[in-house]
Amino acid sequence: MTKVLVATEKPFAAAAVNGIREVVENAGYELVLLEKYTDKADLLKAVADVDGLIIRSDKVDAEVLDAAKNLKIVVRAGAGYDNIDLKAATEHNVVAENTPGQNSNAVAELVFGMTVMAARNMYSGTSGFELKGKHIGIQAFGQVGRNVARIAKGFGMDVEALDPYCPDSAMEEAGVKPVHSTEELYKNNLFVSIHIPATKETIGSIGYDLINLMPKGGVLINTARKEVIDEEGLARVLNDRPDLKYVADVKPGNAEMLEEKFAGRVFFTPKKMGAQTAEANINAGIAAANQVVAFIRDGVDRFRVN
Ligand code: 3PG
Repeated sequence: MTKVLVATEKPFAAAAVNGIREVVENAGYELVLLEKYTDKADLLKAVADVDGLIIRSDKVDAEVLDAAKNLKIVVRAGAGYDNIDLKAATEHNVVAENTPGQNSNAVAELVFGMTVMAARNMYSGTSGFELKGKHIGIQAFGQVGRNVARIAKGFGMDVEALDPYCPDSAMEEAGVKPVHSTEELYKNNLFVSIHIPATKETIGSIGYDLINLMPKGGVLINTARKEVIDEEGLARVLNDRPDLKYVADVKPGNAEMLEEKFAGRVFFTPKKMGAQTAEANINAGIAAANQVVAFIRDGVDRFRVN
């Protein structure tokens, strides 16, 4: 019998698991669950005889692929697929897919949860400021970036975006001003929200010089990946610029030091939680299940990334 494994170190909401089960069982396949695992050995064991695999930020490397002898498809229920070794997947003849857009509203809402918190001095009771009339720059105008723009407009903010892969006209249609360099984006905006993926080109790309361009009182919001930040540069600029704040859904490697040294100016969620809503879990989880079935049954690979 065809088997589909859901392997999630950070589990989906129960309603999402029920939805995934329905899709998988309606196709006549068996669903296997591995949740909250802490040991890679458990994952290696669980993948041994499965045909399809659904994951979140769970790492799928060559070792996992070696252990998954029957695997045909792995779907990352979410946007970023930097946790899958794409080259190894291709070498193992395994299709890798993501579910673009399915959790983007959840992430965008968290951007504003953290933005308001920073503007209100981390809810310390001191006088903060409002978002209305302020400038926000969106670094990458993909699915999350577009939702951030939509919500920012609701707050009455001026919105700019940078995305070399997106035509200016698409931004303009959304009432967003296109900018064409990271320097311009960081210089113009009191708030900058990061939505770039972690790639060879972007890793470590946001550091001292760029952040230092931000206007007085600037707030940098990162709900993307910690790897895109040059953490040493971030620490230096927070030190030299006591007016700046950094809030992130992705704990930096030097989080403890930053929290101690820059208390009240930095905030990190304890665990990545941008996509951790029932709605996002249901959307991304069920999309992933449908994609697994569509590939195994009909060979459809519309969301293939390798
Ligand atoms: C994504 O890339 O979709 C988000 O970072 C969500 O990751 P998660 O599924 O681990 O919460």
